Amino acid sequence: MAPLSKVALVAFGAINGANAWGVLGHATVAYVAQNYASSDTASWAQGVLGDTSSSYLANIASWADQYRLTKAGKWSAPLHFIDAEDNPPSSCNVNYERDCGSSGCSISAIANYTQRAGDGRLSSDHIAEALKFLVHFLGDVTQPLHDEAYEVGGNYIDVTFNGYSDNLHADWDTYMPEQLIGGDTLSDAQSWANTLISEITSGSYKSQAASWIEGDTISDTITTATRWASDANAFVCTVVMPNGAAALQTGDLYPTYYNSVIGTIELQIAKGGYRLGNWLNLIYNSDIAKRDLESFVKENQDSTFPELLGRDVLPEPRPLSRAKLARAAMGEACCRSEKRDHVH
Ligand SMILES: *[C@@H]1O[C@H](CO)[C@@H](O)[C@H](O)[C@H]1NC(C)=O
Ligand SMILES: [Zn+2]
Ligand SMILES: [Zn+2]
Repeated sequence: MAPLSKVALVAFGAINGANAWGVLGHATVAYVAQNYASSDTASWAQGVLGDTSSSYLANIASWADQYRLTKAGKWSAPLHFIDAEDNPPSSCNVNYERDCGSSGCSISAIANYTQRAGDGRLSSDHIAEALKFLVHFLGDVTQPLHDEAYEVGGNYIDVTFNGYSDNLHADWDTYMPEQLIGGDTLSDAQSWANTLISEITSGSYKSQAASWIEGDTISDTITTATRWASDANAFVCTVVMPNGAAALQTGDLYPTYYNSVIGTIELQIAKGGYRLGNWLNLIYNSDIAKRDLESFVKENQDSTFPELLGRDVLPEPRPLSRAKLARAAMGEACCRSEKRDHVH
């Protein structure tokens, strides 16, 4: 018999459909980030978001997933991933020019919203939008299957997990993290974040955390975010499907496969949060902290308003590849988690 939480989870999935890292994963990334945001960064973000609570980033971490499902937000669906057209499991790699679609991808979006979040000439609604997107996309980019074109990021790889028929992408986003934590509330996320923070502070991540943000710079966001995507994409070959997808379609992924990947899921959530905290500090320190001085200087100059729609960050347009056509056919939905059938 399915435990009650599982039944609730299926119902929730049916309503929500598309999650990228589920609600739990994104909120956990946000809580980890809050721990590493400086107090100045935190007050700035709280002001922008109009939320002085202790969950100011966690509260908006999944906004982008709800927005993409609305009519007004459809255009933003491609920004949640980059479809790396590599060849797992024998070869994994991300190439921005090759892989970022002509309507954008996670990497171009991170560049665009990093620029916009720090730009005091935009309206407060636009700054809030930029911050909400960044909090979400720095999470998405650490999910290996958000950096992979193969079978539309694993959405078309049907598998069985713990007795449920679902797809590999949804298991990575949502069902395996929830299996680990046992729920998806903000308090579940806060307690998972606390565990990850203590691993970073004094546990098994202590020696590597500095390398997660090494070289991160908002003066070259494309290079920085491509490094994040490449780092996650490498796990597609080594952890997600080291023996190919067919090997995952016989038998139940729980517990053997789950046990082999859950450590990577935890690592990626911790990384996403640690990077996000640092990234917001970088934006705050380079753009916002000096703003008063800048506006004083600017009053005495003519300024030409730069192109803020970020078109300059997109790769050259080119004909759609097969992988891009498959993604386009899927429309704005990210996942087929709503198709999860109860097979007990
Ligand atoms: C940058 O953000 C604005 C506001 O959301 C959006 O209209 C524009 O299309 C974005 N550009 C890119 C390249 O993502
Ligand atoms: Zn997803
Ligand atoms: Zn997403």
